[in-house]
Amino acid sequence: MRMKKIATLLALSLALGVQAQEHVMTVDVSKPTAQIQPTMYGIFFEDINFGADGGLYAELVKNRSFEFPQSFVGWVPFGDVTVQDADPAFPRNPHYIRIVNDGRLLRAGIDNEGYRGIGLKAGEEYRFSVYARTPEAQPMKLSIELVQADGANPVKKSIEISGKEWTKTTAILKSTFTDPHARLRIVLESRGTVDMDHISLFPVKTWKGRENGLRADLAQALYDLNPGVLRFPGGCIIEGNSLATRYQWKNSVGPVENRPLNENRWNYTFKHRAFPDYFQSYGLGFYEFFLLSEDIGAEPLPVISCGLSCQYESNEVVPLDELDPYVQDALDLIEFANGDATTKWGKVRADMGHPAPFNLKMIAVGNEQWDKVYVERLEVFTKAIREKYPDIKIIGSSGPSASGDKFDYLWPEMKRVGVDLVDEHYYMEPKWFQDNARRYDSYDRQGPKVFAGEYAAHDHPTGKANNLFTALSEAAFMTGLERNADVVHLATYAPLFAHVDAWQWNPDLIWYDNLRMMRTPNYYVQQMYGMNAGTDVLRLQMEGQPVAGQDSLYATAALNKPTNEIIVKLVNTASTPAEVKIDFTGLKKKQQLAGGTCTYLQNDDQMTVNTLDGEKLVPRVRPVPACGQSLSLQLPGRFFGVYRLQVE
Ligand code: AHR
Repeated sequence: MRMKKIATLLALSLALGVQAQEHVMTVDVSKPTAQIQPTMYGIFFEDINFGADGGLYAELVKNRSFEFPQSFVGWVPFGDVTVQDADPAFPRNPHYIRIVNDGRLLRAGIDNEGYRGIGLKAGEEYRFSVYARTPEAQPMKLSIELVQADGANPVKKSIEISGKEWTKTTAILKSTFTDPHARLRIVLESRGTVDMDHISLFPVKTWKGRENGLRADLAQALYDLNPGVLRFPGGCIIEGNSLATRYQWKNSVGPVENRPLNENRWNYTFKHRAFPDYFQSYGLGFYEFFLLSEDIGAEPLPVISCGLSCQYESNEVVPLDELDPYVQDALDLIEFANGDATTKWGKVRADMGHPAPFNLKMIAVGNEQWDKVYVERLEVFTKAIREKYPDIKIIGSSGPSASGDKFDYLWPEMKRVGVDLVDEHYYMEPKWFQDNARRYDSYDRQGPKVFAGEYAAHDHPTGKANNLFTALSEAAFMTGLERNADVVHLATYAPLFAHVDAWQWNPDLIWYDNLRMMRTPNYYVQQMYGMNAGTDVLRLQMEGQPVAGQDSLYATAALNKPTNEIIVKLVNTASTPAEVKIDFTGLKKKQQLAGGTCTYLQNDDQMTVNTLDGEKLVPRVRPVPACGQSLSLQLPGRFFGVYRLQVE
């Protein structure tokens, strides 16, 4: 009995001993080892999960131009309503509706269901607009109505349509109710005929109050990440299921009413989450992406088709001798972004309201492409872009995964072709992220730089939840990105957005319904990196090694030259606390660390997730007292902390 008690005590003290073991790290402040690019932590936007139409793009009407293959998708017509295309308002969107009220029907009109409903808030104003005409001699009266899901107490406004020419009419309606699943109703009240096209409803309060604008809360969430780069308009979406449905940027600029509809590449990809009503209106097009980049202080990074449709799907290949239009699209895009108003495409941009160039510096040719068929095409693009725009950086692909045959073939080819950066994608288990914190330590310092263009930890047992476990795994991995900032110049989590009622792919950084938005723990990890990047990497070691998983600890350190702060990022993925002492070497004799702040994300339960009803996991901030030249910490378990310390 006594022996058993001693053994228990011994085990306990050993356990306590392990827990109390101090991990001594050193940060050499005197010699930064690499510069951190201002572009380092960015965002990647793709129209997946109803990310654009039904998401960031604030339009509330689905199929506003009646161009879906089945013209009435999203609409419920009542009375005499037909689809026409003679003498259209917009040649590239030729369909419109004709409503006839012959006096015998009580009502003639049409309802729109929005994107899984229309989200309306009491007290908020909404801008309705329509292009309409009438053959009648006298003005025709339309009632525009915001209708709650239960139909009670609609908000109504009358407008008049007159004349045989297509004319735009707008009306502002103030909602008296809050409902995520409301409808828009238009009723022809006069006896006669009215043609209508491009029927639109936007909140007046969009991001920066722009008409044809973005959902303010979602754009704000992007701004709050302090992103260094915005990759757009997507990954697979630029390839298309077929070449015919690839993303063609020229279709996404100019007057919004005349941008032709395109199928969304993600509508049928996942059979269990197929959405046949998923199309791209291109209302959020390349001009708007450039504008968004400017608004949020991120470098724009467009991705363009290289003449291959999705190699997982139809795998169509444009013959090399027919590639010219694709290459021309790339050159014209650079002119659209940077050319002055005397150039053809610069003028298009200027006419849209932005005479100043967008100062585009880089372009990605292809998304997840592979094999010789890609490299041959990339070479053609690279030659043409280098010839005309030698300062533009070109990004090539390393295929769809973090390793394997495609990856091994492509990296040497990217070096041979001489691209500036190579895009790597990895959607892996959380453990992979923790195990790969040293991935870039051994990368070639002479070759192209790395763009970690799409990554996310996929926790399969939880149905790929956005939980703390995945967020901490990503935070751990990102210490390795930062430590290797001489090689890794850009990194973007993927995908960015998901509508809770219409998603195809998870996990995602930001989730929303028609009225609310939720930032995931993974979002906060990105934000903590984005807000605290620093300018220069400092060598941080423990027993002569980078801290990359020893006792579940991960760490990186940076100097922020403009503010003379040292920024230390520490991750403890274990459930138990860890004692950490950080000695700052290379400070001048009298230099002290005057203290600062610790911003941290922590919860003992690593399965914790945020929901639309509440965010349990948000970063908290606490002060860190002055600490001389050495900082002693007890890191809680399941912890990611960013320490900003002022150098005196
Ligand atoms: O992010 C979702 C998809 O994942 C991207 O479109 C593609 O590049 C990757 O396969």
